[in-house]
Amino acid sequence: MPLIAELKEFTLKKILVIHGPNLHLLGQREKDIYGETTLAEINKQLQDLAKKRGIQLDILQSNHEGDIVDAIGKAKTNQFKAILINPAAYTHTSVAIRDAILAVNLPTVEVHLSNIYAREDFRHNSLIAPVCQGQISGFGVHSYILGLEAAISLINSRS
Ligand code: DQA
Repeated sequence: MPLIAELKEFTLKKILVIHGPNLHLLGQREKDIYGETTLAEINKQLQDLAKKRGIQLDILQSNHEGDIVDAIGKAKTNQFKAILINPAAYTHTSVAIRDAILAVNLPTVEVHLSNIYAREDFRHNSLIAPVCQGQISGFGVHSYILGLEAAISLINSRS
């Protein structure tokens, strides 16, 4: 690894961003609910903000619960200081993701593009929110921006 990259790796605080199932289809998927912004555009906005704040972001999108559980489980070993997650449909079903967050014990912020409390009843319950520092829901792409700001202030207040 070049020296500059090595130094950056060493000095920048790292946040793990996880996008759950079907979020790779943003921009095509139920646009009336999720808007027209693609996942690549959201990631670009997150990376721009992280750069301004001196944070390194690693971003994962997966449709597979086990991959998400694996990434969370390794987050501390991989030097992440916080997790920003949109668990998507797993919000409402995944005991495994909830347990992984509990196990790794890193500050975690849950985000949703849509307001899950204004939608179908089955979306009103999040199994993930009770093990997070907080949840941001309903502000479209801005939920991610607010969520990242929250995660950054959590890690800055801890160091
Ligand atoms: C979502 C809300 C979930 O209920 C849904 O399953 C998603 C996206 C959101 O960002 O609004 O896939 O997490």
